[in-house]
Amino acid sequence: MIAKSLTVTSLAVLALARATSTRKTCKVAAIGGGEDDGPAINSAFKKCAKNSKIVLDKYYVVDTLLKTENLDNVEIELSGTVQYTPDIAKWSPQSLYLTYQNATTAWWLSGKDIHLYGGGTIDGNGQVWWDTYNNTHDSGTAGGSSRTFARPIPLTVGNSTNVKIENIKQIGSPFWNNFVYQSSHVTYTNIHINTVSDSSSPTANSDGWDIYRSSDVTIENSHVNNDDDCVSFKPNSTNIIVQNMWCNGSHGISVGSLGQYAGEMDIVANVFVKNITMLNAQNGARIKVFGGNPSPQSTMGGGTGYVRNITFRDFHVQNVDNPIIIDQCYSTNADVCAQYPSNLSISDVHYYNVTGTSSGAEGSVVVDIECSATCNDITATGTHLTAGGNATSTEYICKNIATQAQLDFNCTAPSS
Ligand SMILES: *[C@@H]1O[C@H](CO)[C@@H](O)[C@H](O)[C@H]1NC(C)=O
Ligand SMILES: *[C@@H]1O[C@H](CO)[C@@H](O)[C@H](O)[C@H]1NC(C)=O
Ligand SMILES: *[C@@H]1O[C@H](CO)[C@@H](O)[C@H](O)[C@H]1NC(C)=O
Ligand SMILES: *[C@@H]1O[C@H](CO)[C@@H](O)[C@H](O)[C@H]1NC(C)=O
Ligand SMILES: *[C@@H]1O[C@H](CO)[C@@H](O)[C@H](O)[C@H]1NC(C)=O
Ligand SMILES: *[C@@H]1O[C@H](CO)[C@@H](O)[C@H](O)[C@H]1NC(C)=O
Ligand SMILES: *[C@@H]1O[C@H](CO)[C@@H](O)[C@H](O)[C@H]1NC(C)=O
Ligand SMILES: *[C@@H]1O[C@H](CO)[C@@H](O)[C@H](O)[C@H]1NC(C)=O
Ligand SMILES: *[C@@H]1O[C@H](CO)[C@@H](O)[C@H](O)[C@H]1NC(C)=O
Ligand SMILES: *[C@@H]1O[C@H](CO)[C@@H](O)[C@H](O)[C@H]1NC(C)=O
Ligand SMILES: *[C@@H]1O[C@H](CO)[C@@H](O)[C@H](O)[C@H]1NC(C)=O
Repeated sequence: MIAKSLTVTSLAVLALARATSTRKTCKVAAIGGGEDDGPAINSAFKKCAKNSKIVLDKYYVVDTLLKTENLDNVEIELSGTVQYTPDIAKWSPQSLYLTYQNATTAWWLSGKDIHLYGGGTIDGNGQVWWDTYNNTHDSGTAGGSSRTFARPIPLTVGNSTNVKIENIKQIGSPFWNNFVYQSSHVTYTNIHINTVSDSSSPTANSDGWDIYRSSDVTIENSHVNNDDDCVSFKPNSTNIIVQNMWCNGSHGISVGSLGQYAGEMDIVANVFVKNITMLNAQNGARIKVFGGNPSPQSTMGGGTGYVRNITFRDFHVQNVDNPIIIDQCYSTNADVCAQYPSNLSISDVHYYNVTGTSSGAEGSVVVDIECSATCNDITATGTHLTAGGNATSTEYICKNIATQAQLDFNCTAPSS
């Protein structure tokens, strides 16, 4: 028995040694003096696109779109820093356009069997973007990005399968920090995100992650300090795990927004969210859906689809405005929403062990779950929430919830 297991172990070590020794390696030098290292990074990824290792261990200034694609079994050691130039006139048109919410990216990372790691930093140099945005307010609908002032996402995993990203810092993102786009089997672990403004302009759309048309995505063991969604499940996010997260200042772990585009079908299903510490946030466990819209060209509601099989477990909030919220009139005028209710259905949503204290911004209300049409199979157990601020009682608002008896709090109807 012992001899056999020793043999197996030494074979495994040999195999690993062989894989490492035969791996072609491309080390990228930095030019220095503020010169653009983008072209050298792109050519290293071309040279080492297959069964290779790429080493980014310097301080790189990047003024050129990083389009690193067709990768196959590539290790990327990022122990240095990739810093994008704050050159709005250049980046806004050159960043890669990804259609959804006018999102664009500065780094399109694409292929299969990719491992990015190394303790390094991606610096989006966001301050100049936030200061400019603060003054121009140039945004798309629902405050997204725009074609004329496109704020690039520092890292997008796109059209990829089997990607692992671990032990990376991300600072100063002009827009969302991470976009998982048309990909599957993507894992992020031990990511440290800090998107904080040094001026009087707030950061804008500083989501930690947005997942779109992707499945089998795991985000875990990470730390996010920002001012928009900590993690957001955009249209067609399925089989998702988010766990062991510390989120501060954010807008919550959010399903959505969904239903934004008229005639489009959005699906978010099989999401498991566990062990979340949510501090100083606008929302905790959130589902946000646009209302309906009479216009077939609408980009402000009118979509269809469903949200199904979502679990929020061991979710702790402190100073959070809306610890639990379902909103089917997101970014929608109340009268329009009443006349054209959302056609997107929500079911099979479970809250276990959601605890903590709200900010008191919503008075005594700690739970507000309002569905446009009946929501089925919504349950809550182990809910222990208190209202912060000046509130002296705790209130739970429910509308169109079929399974009210399976909530461990007493609902009241919304007043209006
Ligand atoms: C995209 O940008 C254009 C021009 O800036 C804007 O009019 C449009 O609303 C944006 N689309 C979305 C979906 O945000
Ligand atoms: C991603 O894949 C889609 C569908 O295969 C393709 O149309 C699109 O051009 C790809 N995007 C990029 C940037 O390569
Ligand atoms: C941001 O906008 C606010 C309101 O318009 C303004 O008071 C403030 O000075 C702006 N901040 C910066 C850094 O431009
Ligand atoms: C819960 O998540 C925190 C990070 O917020 C982590 O430190 C802790 O170890 C996790 N707990 C468990 C039981 O995994
Ligand atoms: C958490 O966010 C608040 C503002 O929302 C900020 O004042 C505080 O410094 C942040 N804490 C940490 C540890 O970053
Ligand atoms: C989501 O998936 C459904 C079913 O495959 C499809 O009909 C729909 O167009 C997709 N929506 C988006 C936004 O990709
Ligand atoms: C519900 O979602 C969880 C988490 O992704 C998954 O493990 C489970 O299989 C899903 N259940 C069904 C019935 O699809
Ligand atoms: C509830 O969640 C907290 C983390 O927020 C965890 O420490 C605790 O063990 C959980 N309680 C139960 C009964 O699972
Ligand atoms: C939305 O639902 C209404 C009635 O409930 C229906 O008349 C309308 O066709 C639906 N719209 C879409 C896009 O499915
Ligand atoms: C609590 O009451 C004090 C004194 O009336 C007021 O200044 C403060 O804004 C209130 N806080 C909240 C969260 O409503
Ligand atoms: C809900 O209200 C009923 C009747 O007032 C009361 O008996 C029950 O204890 C309340 N349940 C909870 C969880 O507060």
